[in-house]
Amino acid sequence: MRFRTSSVEIKSPREIEAMREVCRLAADTLLKVAPLIRPGVSTEEINTFVHEDTLAKGAIPAPLGYHGFPKSVCTSLNEVVCHGIPSPHHVLRDGDIINVDVTHIYKGFHGDTSATFYVGEVSERAKLVTETSRRSLELAIQEVKPGARLGDIGAAIQEFAEGVGCSVVEAFVGHGIGRKFHDEPQVSHVGRRGSGLRLRPGMTFTIEPMINLGTKEVRILEDEWTAVTRDGELSAQFEHTLLVTETGCEVLTARPERLEKSEIFPDFWQNRG
Ligand code: MF3
Ligand code: CO
Ligand code: CO
Repeated sequence: MRFRTSSVEIKSPREIEAMREVCRLAADTLLKVAPLIRPGVSTEEINTFVHEDTLAKGAIPAPLGYHGFPKSVCTSLNEVVCHGIPSPHHVLRDGDIINVDVTHIYKGFHGDTSATFYVGEVSERAKLVTETSRRSLELAIQEVKPGARLGDIGAAIQEFAEGVGCSVVEAFVGHGIGRKFHDEPQVSHVGRRGSGLRLRPGMTFTIEPMINLGTKEVRILEDEWTAVTRDGELSAQFEHTLLVTETGCEVLTARPERLEKSEIFPDFWQNRG
């Protein structure tokens, strides 16, 4: 039996349990990526680790072969907004930022989560775009509860990010998730409060704001996947998979520990402005 409100699936208790499981596995793989992040490591090595760790869990890396995507994880360096393809030619350097986006399939369900990591010593600009993405996701999550609207999510992200002088990518959105990798609804990272779909308990979707230092506009490279900022400025992203509960929300891809190489500037927003 499949319950739907409009076109958005409402998960049953068993489906919710399956989502919890796959999301916990994806979060664990992402946690374990952190120790690899250092100058000299190629994104191919990150791919190899994610591929093997996923299989070791009895899960499948969802990106591999998805609409022809050639690798098991997306690795998006610096001006890459999303969908970066791991390669032995892409080697991390001191001062880089890199988003690693992990999606597992386990018992037929998808769990999707990403984070931006700092490679060695980074610039204030790299910190700004990364911490803005992290904070805007946290603020968006605080909006998620029954009766809230999708527009409340986009507004929370847009208000914060634009308020600190960054821009919000509109070309890619968060998404419903479950047996399908990308399902209804589309979760825009910009919006107007009080507008859009009303959230209901049992909905599962991602929020994954891509925040740019310069223009919000993107361009796709010749490989037909890699999305980069049009002006070549930095971009950062964080992603969680969420469940709307009776009282608020559950962050299904929440991490049981601090994320090394990423959650390292807890005071970034202190004494600013
Ligand atoms: N994980 C990405 C997302 O957050 C999607 C990657 S699709 C791929 O939606 F084919 F590039 F892997
Ligand atoms: Co996603
Ligand atoms: Co993702």
